[in-house]
Amino acid sequence: MKNRKRRMVSWITALLILCQTGCGFFSVTPQGEAEGESSYTYAEDESELIVVGFSQVGSESVWRTAHSNSIQNALTKENGYFLIFDNARQKQENQIKAIRSFISQRVDYIVLSPIVESGWDTVLKEAKDAGIPVIIMDRRVDADASLYTTWVGTDTYKEGENAARWLEGELKSHNALYEDVNIVILQGTLGSSAESNRTRGFASIAQRYGNWHILDQQTGDFTVAKGKEVMQQFLKKYDDIDVVVAQNDDMAFGAIEAIEEAGKTTGVGKDMILISFDAVREALVLVQQGKINVDIECNPEQGDDVEKVIRMLENGESVEKEYVVAERIFTHRNVARYIEERTY
Ligand code: AHR
Repeated sequence: MKNRKRRMVSWITALLILCQTGCGFFSVTPQGEAEGESSYTYAEDESELIVVGFSQVGSESVWRTAHSNSIQNALTKENGYFLIFDNARQKQENQIKAIRSFISQRVDYIVLSPIVESGWDTVLKEAKDAGIPVIIMDRRVDADASLYTTWVGTDTYKEGENAARWLEGELKSHNALYEDVNIVILQGTLGSSAESNRTRGFASIAQRYGNWHILDQQTGDFTVAKGKEVMQQFLKKYDDIDVVVAQNDDMAFGAIEAIEEAGKTTGVGKDMILISFDAVREALVLVQQGKINVDIECNPEQGDDVEKVIRMLENGESVEKEYVVAERIFTHRNVARYIEERTY
């Protein structure tokens, strides 16, 4: 069944090539079924590859580039894959379009890294009806679980909790756990599970302390520019910020720029505590320099896990409904030994 489907993708590819080059439509025959097949070298070469359509969120952050590289390095031709990579440029409508195009190309698998959590049921049902397994990656969808095969990603709720737990420990070590603390939060893309889980995870601990005041939370869309803009607004509105929580490193970079331009400082023993998420190399260097107090890792290296899941499915093995990628927490105390090995 899978082989037949793969052959069909190749056939469609061959058809497209032929149509583009102006040859007669009806002269094309499926791979391996008639004479002349060898003239379609491209299609023939690809015919045994597993065809995967991947819809990526966009290229909003350093982390996202690492995430795209991870999938591209795992689903290579050498490993037996033909990857169709689609960058949705932060628009759910582009992701839906891409999925429909993957369905019409009859790919073997669809991998979706969803921008937002809701609004997927219809298109996932279309994929299911077409018999194409869907693997959700990175962020979550709130669709009926029967509409996708599995999910591979990070526990972003726990990341939010870990950020607050670190703050708890830090304040405790300075005998300041019950002193007033003013917090602002730079949120990621609203509607994404990465944002909502980090926000809720942090709040679940923060609400235990009546003296932790969340002054404001606004979206900086996971980008440097928006992170800086929102931080500038916070600085204009509040002159007593103690803690900045940036829900990714790019927004933390933007926040540092805004704070320094306002003549203030962040980091260990400075005006404001800065908590960040992702732990890309550039941010780990800032942790080492003491400008970021703590970086809660969000691990983008999920490509190998997705590849393993596809292998298992190809072998007819059953897969778990969720695969959670392992993560660490970095402070100036432990960061040095990890910086060198960071590739992104
Ligand atoms: O979904 C993961 C988040 O998306 C990362 O924290 C962020 O950097 C990215 O844009």
